[in-house]
Amino acid sequence: MGIYRSNRWLVRHVDVKVLRGQLVYIIGANGAGKTTTAKALLGLIPTDEGEIRRGPALKVGYVPQRLHINPTLPLTMRRLLRLTERYKNTEIDHAITAVGLQRLGNPFVSTLSGGEFQRLLLAQAMLSRPDLLLLDEPAQGVDAAGADKLHNIIDRIRIELGCGVLCISHDLQLAMDTGDDFLVLIPHEHDEMDST
Ligand SMILES: Nc1ncnc2c1ncn2[C@@H]1O[C@H](COP(=O)(O)OP(=O)(O)OP(=O)(O)O)[C@@H](O)[C@H]1O
Ligand SMILES: [Mg+2]
Repeated sequence: MGIYRSNRWLVRHVDVKVLRGQLVYIIGANGAGKTTTAKALLGLIPTDEGEIRRGPALKVGYVPQRLHINPTLPLTMRRLLRLTERYKNTEIDHAITAVGLQRLGNPFVSTLSGGEFQRLLLAQAMLSRPDLLLLDEPAQGVDAAGADKLHNIIDRIRIELGCGVLCISHDLQLAMDTGDDFLVLIPHEHDEMDST
């Protein structure tokens, strides 16, 4: 799979496969094309080479790298979880507990810390019971201990849902230690290709 924009290949020869129950990482430095790859896999941007194959009726839970919520919006944690679908209270409770946010009660989303907000997005992705969780740097801005906990949470969710997880990260060691497979993207690797 390749994506060509503004006269260059942002990513090329990306070959990644996630089976049900697997944890696969995409690793790479800033600008290597990780988010671009994720968006292409989701079908949010078209590919210029190769193809994306999805299982029939594949349901994907996507946690984007950046999500801005208007801080003046009086939106509570539970309300956010219900924005897209009317889940039952028991389902909401379960998801909040699964990501370890149950102690907080029902705070305004704007008051959550960065790490808590990431967990809330994970709870939201989990509620739709996806076949594949696509997480774009879930541990971004989270300290080392917090990142450890977060990856444990992701692992428990994967086991509970039996879903595949494609996790974008900068942590090669983590990918090698815990992943079923990983793909490393190199920034600007393709810049010199096809010139001349
Ligand atoms: N629509 C676009 N048109 C042109 N260039 C783009 C477009 N989208 C992304 N890029 C460029 O493609 C490269 C890869 O961007 P991408 O966001 O995928 O990187 P990343 O690996 O996710 O980086 P980070 O670790 O910083 O999140 C960057 O150089 C970016 O500027
Ligand atoms: Mg990115």
